[in-house]
Amino acid sequence: MKKTNLLLVLAFCSGFLAIGQTKVPFIEDLLAKMTIEEKIGQLNLVTPGGGIATGSVVSSNVEEKIKAAEVGGLFGISGPEKLKIAQDFAVNETRLKIPLFFGSDIIHGYKTTFPIPLGTASSWDMDLIKKMAETAAKEATADGINWNFSPMVDVARDPRWGRIAEGAGEDPFLGSAIAKAMVHGYQGTDLTAKNTMIATIKHFALYGAAEAGRDYNSVDMSRTKMFNQYLPPYKAGIDAGAASIMTSFNDVDGIPASGNKWLLTDVLRKKWGFKGFVVSDYTSVNEMIAHGLGDLQDVSALSLKAGLDMDMVGEGFLTTLKKSLDEGRVTEEEITNACRRILEAKYKLGLFDDPYKYIDAKRPKKDILTKENKTLARDAAKRSFVLFKNHNNVLPLKKTAKIALVGPLANNKNNMLGTWAPTGDPQLSIPVLEGFKNVAPKAKITYAKGANITDDAELAKKVNVFGTRVDIDKRSSEVLLQEALDLANTSDVVVAVVGEASEMSGEAASRTDISIPTSQKKLIQALVKTGKPVVLVLMSGRPLTIEEEFNLPVGILQVWHPGIEAGNAIADVVFGDYNPSGKLTATWPRNVGQIPIYHSIKNTGRPAPTEAFEKFKSNYLDVKNTPLLPFGYGLSYSSFEYSNINLSKKEIIKGEDVTVSVTVKNTGNFDGEEVVQLYLRDVVRSITPPMRQLKGFKKVFIKKGETKKVDLVLTADDLKFYNSNLDFVAEPGDFELFIGTNSNTQLKASLTLK
Ligand code: BGC
Repeated sequence: MKKTNLLLVLAFCSGFLAIGQTKVPFIEDLLAKMTIEEKIGQLNLVTPGGGIATGSVVSSNVEEKIKAAEVGGLFGISGPEKLKIAQDFAVNETRLKIPLFFGSDIIHGYKTTFPIPLGTASSWDMDLIKKMAETAAKEATADGINWNFSPMVDVARDPRWGRIAEGAGEDPFLGSAIAKAMVHGYQGTDLTAKNTMIATIKHFALYGAAEAGRDYNSVDMSRTKMFNQYLPPYKAGIDAGAASIMTSFNDVDGIPASGNKWLLTDVLRKKWGFKGFVVSDYTSVNEMIAHGLGDLQDVSALSLKAGLDMDMVGEGFLTTLKKSLDEGRVTEEEITNACRRILEAKYKLGLFDDPYKYIDAKRPKKDILTKENKTLARDAAKRSFVLFKNHNNVLPLKKTAKIALVGPLANNKNNMLGTWAPTGDPQLSIPVLEGFKNVAPKAKITYAKGANITDDAELAKKVNVFGTRVDIDKRSSEVLLQEALDLANTSDVVVAVVGEASEMSGEAASRTDISIPTSQKKLIQALVKTGKPVVLVLMSGRPLTIEEEFNLPVGILQVWHPGIEAGNAIADVVFGDYNPSGKLTATWPRNVGQIPIYHSIKNTGRPAPTEAFEKFKSNYLDVKNTPLLPFGYGLSYSSFEYSNINLSKKEIIKGEDVTVSVTVKNTGNFDGEEVVQLYLRDVVRSITPPMRQLKGFKKVFIKKGETKKVDLVLTADDLKFYNSNLDFVAEPGDFELFIGTNSNTQLKASLTLK
């Protein structure tokens, strides 16, 4: 289908923002030609079931439906060949030849799998995160994809929730910065380019606050908490230009998000000015029946009227909207508006100009899994690791050491990619053993499994849904353990690679016990008893409860699920080619009873002044209030000393920025990077303030012995919050600023807003 060049030029000149504000003549002409059935067809998103199906149904008769103009987009299939066939059906065999979208979940890399998002967030490196998104877009578009269901920006403060792995962690400020970087990475500056794709902010809204950390569970929260703590990353993604947004499965204030008019229209479109299109989550419209909101016709009509544009997989729109229109339950205008937003997005991609623009048989070989992409994956992985402790400076290891490399994750390909990596191939990943040999060819490395990830066969079955992740050995646990101990006893040092299988986190993978599985706990204890120096390389998709292991005389390097270059990146850090610089973006609790736990807590009227128990103070009988590891925590092989916190002004008036500076000295023996963090406390305000909120950060490289002055700008908006009327305001008064190496820092200065 061709349209006039003039139209194209006009659209390009006016930029994305103009679309939706002023109607696009080409789309209006097309809408005028469409029947109501054709419009409803555009609202239908289907999956033929080639990828991972995340619900109990996949779509049927996809080919017939495309030819019948009953499909707006497909997801879960890829590759120029297959997608060309599907696009042919749409543009050659339907009356109006409207091209299809091709969607996919590219959560942390396409075929070159990067670390899980909770890991990449720990890098606090926005350029790196943007680059990864850019690379994912380049690879995915090479395979025909033009619409990504990422980034997931749900703030998560409950590590029982398995999908904490997919997001940036607990903090709205950092989460907003990451949302922006990812949208810019995926969409670039030109969505009509062949190597950029539409980004989807998900899951709107509050999906990360599911009660008790159980996936899909109900969410109920005050509006002030919502606006101050949970909504900012969604808004940041929208402000960055994301062209689509996905609803969440949970209800908010008693109304499931997919049918929640307050969320989808009042907040998203009216308050925030969102101009893109809204897609449901997988069958989330239909799931409103189970939520108790009526039958399929009821919930479909409710969703359309609420502001939902596209229905993923459930076909409630396809099968009931016409009937609802005839019965006067929805209007033609509502259907047209939803259809317009979908067509406008296709227009933004340039699909009307060339429906095959992403379909190029030469591109996959050229753009996917390139050396350059793998180098980026290795770099991203090593920057995501967080050093928890380094007993006796056990790390870094000598490249000539005699090493017993043990543990169920030490020579394992199946768990390196992490959860939600359906487009990656686990068999291409580098296991730790191979990485060690690559980086330290002169080391004497022996390997033993030592234990199963878990001995619990029932649990293994549940996490093996997408392939074997937990492989229960035929040998007994005693035999496995003895083999590891024999190697440990004859080595200089033991490295144990332990933790969670990749599908122990992720969707529908909530846990109430988030400790290291018993089989591995026993292995760790026994290894420490040998008296040899022990390093734990810990893999997980969430914060774990590891107080027992933390108190052992060991080194601990947290590596998440590191992606395709896992083994090489771990070896880079373990052998000191890279000095760890990651910092936690979600608090690690001492036990599950402390959850939810996060750094920006509010004070109570009865704060406990010390860690010792006091009656009638806000504390527990059986555990301290403090977490095991605070937000922002992470060590380096070097050490950094902070001094001289300084403000460019001690008093400001509304609208003014202030520069906060600090001196940081690298006092250790290694060059290294440090994430300098700035926290704010509003001392007095009209609604109870958090004790600290992250308001700035900068990652700086400092050579050993060197001192750097680091400046962070606190903007006028950083002093603002949503008050009881949900107005975004700064209230005059005193503020305290804390700057340092993690959220516990005590280096402080005061600021007054006149
Ligand atoms: C997930 C979404 C995902 C969708 C499509 C759902 O189950 O919640 O994050 O984008 O499936 O795969």
